[in-house]
Amino acid sequence: MSFAQRVPEYRARADQSLARWLPAAEVAPTRLHEALRYSVLGAGKRIRPLLSYATGEILGLEPSRCDAPAVAVELIHAYSLVHDDLPAMDDDDLRRGRPTTHVAYDEATALLVGDALQSLAFQILAEDEACLAGPALRMRMLAELAVASGSRGMVGGQALDLRAEGRALDQAEIERIYRLKTGRLIEAAIMLPVILAGELPLSGERALRAFATQIGLAFQIRDDLLDVEGETSVIGKPGGSDERNRKATLPAVVGLEATRLRADTVYADAISALDPLGDRAEPLRWLSEFIIRRDH
Ligand code: IPE
Ligand code: IPE
Ligand code: MG
Ligand code: MG
Ligand code: MG
Repeated sequence: MSFAQRVPEYRARADQSLARWLPAAEVAPTRLHEALRYSVLGAGKRIRPLLSYATGEILGLEPSRCDAPAVAVELIHAYSLVHDDLPAMDDDDLRRGRPTTHVAYDEATALLVGDALQSLAFQILAEDEACLAGPALRMRMLAELAVASGSRGMVGGQALDLRAEGRALDQAEIERIYRLKTGRLIEAAIMLPVILAGELPLSGERALRAFATQIGLAFQIRDDLLDVEGETSVIGKPGGSDERNRKATLPAVVGLEATRLRADTVYADAISALDPLGDRAEPLRWLSEFIIRRDH
C-alpha cells in the first residue's frame, strides 16, 4: 500500500485528535470555544500533520506517537492563519471557503482564538501520553516548536512580510521571508518526529532537515502562484490578495514564468535531499509532489 492510500486515514486521525483536544463548544467561555473549533476544524489540507506522519513512517514510529507533534504544529498553523487574515495584517474575509474568524465572530475573538490555539499546542506536547516521550525529548520538542513559531521563525517572517509591503525586495530577501513565515513551521512538522525518534544517525537527520527547508520554501512559492492564478472558489481564500496588499512576492518581482521555474528547482532540491534515505522516503516524495502540484 502506498502513502497516497493512507492519506485519508492520516487526515482523519489528525481531525479526530484536534477535535478531542479542543474544548467542546458547550464549555465556558462558549463563544470562544465555538470560535476555536470553527477556526481549526474546517477544510484545511492538513499538510503539516501529513508531513509529521510521513516522517514518522520513515523513522518507524507508530502513528499514535506522532499525533501530538502533528496536531501541535497544525494548531500553531491555524492560529497563524486567523491572525494573518485580520484587518491589521492581510485583511482577508475568506479562509478554507468560509468567512474568516474575525468576520464570523469579531476581531477581539480572532485575537484570542490565536492566543488560545498557541497555548493549546504547547499543552499537547507537554501532556500527550501516547507520544511516549520522556521529559528530555519533550523539552526538545517544546523548544523546537517555540523557536519555529516565534520571532526567529513564523512570527519573524510575518513581521518581515508586513514590513516588505510596497517595497522593492530582491529574490533572496523574498525567499528569506518565505523560509521564515511558512518554511520554519513546516520544518518543525518534520523535525518533531525526528526528535521523538531519538537515536537517528546524524546523516539521516541532516537529510531530513535539508529536505524540510527546501519543501517549506517550495510550499510558499506555490501559495503565491495560487494567489495569482487560482480561482477563489477553488483556493478557498480571496485570489489576488497579495497584489491588493502590494506584497513582496516572487510573482510580483520576477514574474510568473520565472516563479514557476524556481518552484520546480526548489522542489527538485527537496527531492534530492531525500536521496540518502533511499526508498524509505517515498511518503515524503509523494507529499512533495502534492505540495508542488496542488490547486488549493
Ligand atoms: C496557507 O497554508 C498559509 C501558508 C502558510 C502558505 P495551507 O495552504 O496549508 O492552508 P490550509 O491549512 O490547507 O488551509
Ligand atoms: C501566510 O502567508 C503565512 C502564515 C504564517 C500564515 P500568506 O499570507 O500568503 O498565506 P495565505 O495566502 O493568506 O494563506
Ligand atoms: Mg500573510
Ligand atoms: Mg494571507
Ligand atoms: Mg498567500
